[in-house]
Amino acid sequence: MRIVSGIQPTGNLHLGNYLGAIRNWVSMQDDAAASGGPKDRQCLYFLADLHAISQPHVPADLANATREMTAALVACGIDAVGGGGLGRAILFNQAQVPQHAELQWLLNGTARMGWLNRMTQWKDKAGKNAEGSSVALFTYPVLQAADVLLYQATHVPVGEDQKQHLELARDIAQKFNNDFAPEDKPVFTLPQPIIPGEAARIMSLRDGSAKMSKSDPSDMSRINLTDDADTIMSKVKKAKSDADALPSEKPGLEGRPEATNLVGIYAAMAGTSVDAVLSDFGGKGFGAFKPALGTLLVEKLGPINTRFLELRADRPALDAILRDGAARARALATPTLNAAYDALGLVRG
Ligand code: TYM
Repeated sequence: MRIVSGIQPTGNLHLGNYLGAIRNWVSMQDDAAASGGPKDRQCLYFLADLHAISQPHVPADLANATREMTAALVACGIDAVGGGGLGRAILFNQAQVPQHAELQWLLNGTARMGWLNRMTQWKDKAGKNAEGSSVALFTYPVLQAADVLLYQATHVPVGEDQKQHLELARDIAQKFNNDFAPEDKPVFTLPQPIIPGEAARIMSLRDGSAKMSKSDPSDMSRINLTDDADTIMSKVKKAKSDADALPSEKPGLEGRPEATNLVGIYAAMAGTSVDAVLSDFGGKGFGAFKPALGTLLVEKLGPINTRFLELRADRPALDAILRDGAARARALATPTLNAAYDALGLVRG
């Protein structure tokens, strides 16, 4: 079992990232350690800084965000060497592992324009300005495929919005294996997305039909893992809701996207089901539900926030975490990259 996943270091880590992906990263790391340790199962988690340059960005902000996101991931429980942990996971940034970019180029020969044209994220982000978008934004999913195929990933914990990119990674792997590898010796493993049941898609606090996102201009639309208790409370109290009381059963949430989102967040945070939350809060209005949700979020996110603030100040420690992780990742990446070069007939000494 090889578990691999990434996050773009743009903006803050928010509740959607945490519930959709990072919480799973931590539990998969903990399970991996409990069942035989790093030899059988290895977890590689990375900051997708090479992906972040596919959109306009300020270089100094990217460097800061890369370190801040490293601190946030360690605060959430990613156990990297140098983060005070045992190094049960390998945490690094793509820019220090050049094999990601190299493999992307090799896979560009296999990926088809038509496949990339169908990517909903490309369509959303390029909008009506495909001509003016960067080539990197278009080939972004090929780099994402390289990220996981490079390590022979078997499982990739992500939120629902990344499912299509993972399907593309499988298509690329399959075509490359078919075209260039003997049937009994495939170069790449086909990765499996791992998507959480209850919290696969956390929505904006201002609009229950848009996903919670770092790129939303309104900070009120998301809970950041860096928000203090007062900010969390006020964001929850001002979150869009409706005038009706909560239903006692799930079907009563139909057609109520904001209520569905807030109840879903409560369930995911409390580690329970939507049905269980509704059986407690059914018949109560948002005047009662929102303070309960705010209190739960403050209680669960408080310790992460405290740890984050301590770590964020220690830049040498954060750089050491990424350096160590990158050295371990480079060593793991080399055999597959070499196999891909060989399969393509590229002569290297
Ligand atoms: P990114 O940085 O947008 O998000 C990181 C992770 O958080 C999940 N996520 C959400 N889950 C539920 N509800 C939401 N509102 C929400 N918003 C974000 C995402 O699904 C993701 O798992 N392209 C990727 C980064 C990446 C990657 C990879 C992921 C690069 N290479 C290889 C997996 C494997 C991205 O931009 O995620």
